[in-house]
Amino acid sequence: MRKHVLMTTVALFVGATSTNIAAAGDVEVLHWWTSGGEAAALNVLKEGLEGQGIGWNDMPVAGGGGESAMTVLRARVTAGNAPTAVQGLGFDIIDWAKQGSLANLNDVAAKEGWDDVIPAALQQFAKVDGKWVSAPVNVHSTNWVWANKAVLDANGIAVPTTWDEFVAALDKLKAAGITPVAHGGQAWQEATVFDGVAMSVLGPDGYKAAFIDLDEATLGSDSMKEVFDRMGVIRANVDENFSGRDWNLATAMVINGEAGFQMMGDWAKGEFINAGKVPGEDFLCFRFPGTADQVTFNADQFMMFDQGGNVSPEQAALASAILAPSFQSAFNVVKGSVPARTDVSDEAFDACGKKGMADLAAAAKSGNLFGSMAHGHASAASVKNAMYDVITAHFNGEYDSATAVEELVDAVSIAK
Ligand code: BGC
Repeated sequence: MRKHVLMTTVALFVGATSTNIAAAGDVEVLHWWTSGGEAAALNVLKEGLEGQGIGWNDMPVAGGGGESAMTVLRARVTAGNAPTAVQGLGFDIIDWAKQGSLANLNDVAAKEGWDDVIPAALQQFAKVDGKWVSAPVNVHSTNWVWANKAVLDANGIAVPTTWDEFVAALDKLKAAGITPVAHGGQAWQEATVFDGVAMSVLGPDGYKAAFIDLDEATLGSDSMKEVFDRMGVIRANVDENFSGRDWNLATAMVINGEAGFQMMGDWAKGEFINAGKVPGEDFLCFRFPGTADQVTFNADQFMMFDQGGNVSPEQAALASAILAPSFQSAFNVVKGSVPARTDVSDEAFDACGKKGMADLAAAAKSGNLFGSMAHGHASAASVKNAMYDVITAHFNGEYDSATAVEELVDAVSIAK
C-alpha cells in the first residue's frame, strides 16, 4: 500500500516536471533527513530528479535540527568545496547569502512566478537583497503534540486544550505506569518543546518580544520564569533513559504505546505515516495547549551554493523541481510538513496535514505566524545557540528557573 502511494506520487512528480529546465549532470545534496519518514520523503525528490536525468549524489549528515550538517557545511565551504545544494533553515540562509556564497536563482524564480506563490514569511528567508538564493521545500511547525490514541482512550484522557488539562493527563499516565512524555535529551529537542511552552505562556506578543526582538525585559520576566517552571514539569514526566535519544526514537515510543505524548514538529508525523499509522485512528495531532491559534514555523529550503559563476543548469533544474506544485504536494504528504506555495490543494493530505495547512493560512492572516526560535527562524545562530545552552542546562537540572531566566538574559545580551 505504502509503496503504491509512493510510486504514484513519484509518477505524478515526474510528469509535472517534465517541462522543467532539462539538464544533464549530478547534484550533490547535503541534508539531515536520515530518519525513516525523512528518507521516504527525500526519495520523492531523488527519484523525481533521476527521472529528469539528473544524478543524485547523497550527502546525509545525521542529527535532527541540522546542527551537525551545518558544521560539515562550514568545513566544506572553508575547504573551497561547497556542495551543490544544501538543506538550510532561516537565518543560516541569510548568513550564507550575506557572505556571498549562494547562487542567484532570480531567472528561475521570475520564469516560474515565485514572488506570487511563496508566502512573505518564507520569502524573508529565501530572498536576500532582492536575490532568490534558495528554494523553499516546505513549511513545518513546532508547536504540535503527537499522542497515541489507544493509550489516551484506555486512560480516559481527552485531547487537553489547557496547560492544567495537560498536566492532569500526564499525572494519569504516570499513575498508570506509562511514560507520559517521550523525549530525546538533545539541546535542539528541548528548544523545540520550549517553542510551544513559551508561546502558550508568553502569548504571541511576548513570544515575538523575547525571541525575535530579543527584548531584555521579556526575556527576564516572571512569565519567562513560568516558562521554565513548566519545562520543569515536562522534565518530571520523561523516562529515565531520555538523555541523548534521537527524536525519531522518541516518536517510536508514542507509536508503540510506550509513551502517551511527544511535543515535536510535524516531521514526527512522517514517522507515524512511515509506520503505517493513521491520524485520528492510531494517533492524534493537536497544537500545544494554549497555542491553538498560533504557529511557530520553520521552512526547509535548499540553498544553492555558488559553484563559481552563474547558477548551474542542475541547480536551476533542482530548484524548479522543488517548486513544482505536484512535488510540493507529493513530498509534503510524506514528510509531515505543508507546501511552501499558497496555491497547492490540500486534497492529498491527511487530517493532520489539512489541519497544518489551515492553521498556517489562518495564522498568517491573523498575525499569529512566528519563526521558530528552536529551528533558526527567530534569530541568528549565535543567539539561538546561546538560548539552547540555557534551556538545556535548566532541563538537565543545572539551573533552577530563576537562575535560568538570569542566564538567558545574560547569554542573549552577549550573543546578539
Ligand atoms: C527540519 C526538518 C527535520 C527535523 C528533524 C528540522 O530542523 O526542518 O525537516 O525533519 O529538523 O531532523
